[in-house]
Amino acid sequence: MKLKRVGILGIGASLPERVLTNFDLEKIVDTSDEWIRARTGIRERRIAVEKEPFSSFATKASRIALEEAGVSPSELDLIICATVTPDRPLPSSSCYVQHKLQAQKAAAFDLTAGCSGFIFALTVANQFIANGEYKYILIAGGEVLSSVTDWTDRTTCVLFADGAGAVVLGEVEEPAGILATSIHNQGEHAEFLTIPAGGSELPTSQETVAKRLHFVKMMGNELFKIAIRYMSKVSEEVLLKAKVDPREVDIFIPHQANQRITDAVAKRISVSSEKIYSNIDRVGNTSSGSIPIALDELKEQGRIPKGTLVLMSAFGAGVSWGSALVRM
Ligand code: ACO
Repeated sequence: MKLKRVGILGIGASLPERVLTNFDLEKIVDTSDEWIRARTGIRERRIAVEKEPFSSFATKASRIALEEAGVSPSELDLIICATVTPDRPLPSSSCYVQHKLQAQKAAAFDLTAGCSGFIFALTVANQFIANGEYKYILIAGGEVLSSVTDWTDRTTCVLFADGAGAVVLGEVEEPAGILATSIHNQGEHAEFLTIPAGGSELPTSQETVAKRLHFVKMMGNELFKIAIRYMSKVSEEVLLKAKVDPREVDIFIPHQANQRITDAVAKRISVSSEKIYSNIDRVGNTSSGSIPIALDELKEQGRIPKGTLVLMSAFGAGVSWGSALVRM
């Protein structure tokens, strides 16, 4: 069977309106604008107002992506939401998105792969369309990380942010399309980034709440080192898979976790600095949202016309990491 070529037909994003600056954070925890900018590259981030769930941002981003793709919600075969902060533990947020969009025909599920969620979803969706099972798939990646952030923990609260991005995938003509993807995990490092309570291992109780175990706990230094190593490795892996020289890449979109991680990865994979896309100074770390939000900004800036070769790489909890090489 000849596989179909799968590409991105439409892109959208939605960020909360509320801006939280480093100076605002100085009033909440013992930190400084200078430290945050120097150590992470972040100046400000968007934070959802209370009771504004993930599906709200995902749905807004999806509507924009669908409109650009010229695909109506009723034509969607599948919706995948990549998130670690669903509206509720049950049901999956993709069901809320399906309902809000009135995408009656679409199957819908959530996919959890930390900050690598968007790349994992792209990899899964690619298979369904390539083999002819489905025609149109919507991926919405994003978070309301503020809902799991400990606002008394300066080592994490300066990093995380809210927002979502979406893409519609469908069949495209060569040379456009997804050229290669690769995803990986190493469960032995699960403790590096985790929310200890609220699951079946440690259900929520007064004690877990009192100990603040329902918030994200992160071993930042450990993550920092392997994020650079693995994101570089997997980027090289997809380039090799697609037989593409790094110099041919037009835009490199790394997961926006830390500007120092981005710079180190770009140096290792020999992608020149002007090709790296970074919005971490304004958007912070939106986990599964970071790559589709960046794609949307690039689209708005007219920087990803037809034919542009985009390399995307992510790293996150699990630990998980992955990369995708896509020609627009
Ligand atoms: N403000 C001021 N000082 C701070 C802050 C802060 N916000 N945070 C930490 N510090 C202090 C520390 O307490 C420490 O002080 P000490 O020397 O007196 O003990 C000092 O700064 C240095 O701390 P480090 O942890 O060594 O700082 P580092 O430069 O490594 O930066 C950071 C920490 C930003 C967390 C970095 O390690 C990082 O970005 N790691 C990767 C995180 C990441 O990518 N997470 C997401 C993964 S993807 C996902 O799935 C969400």
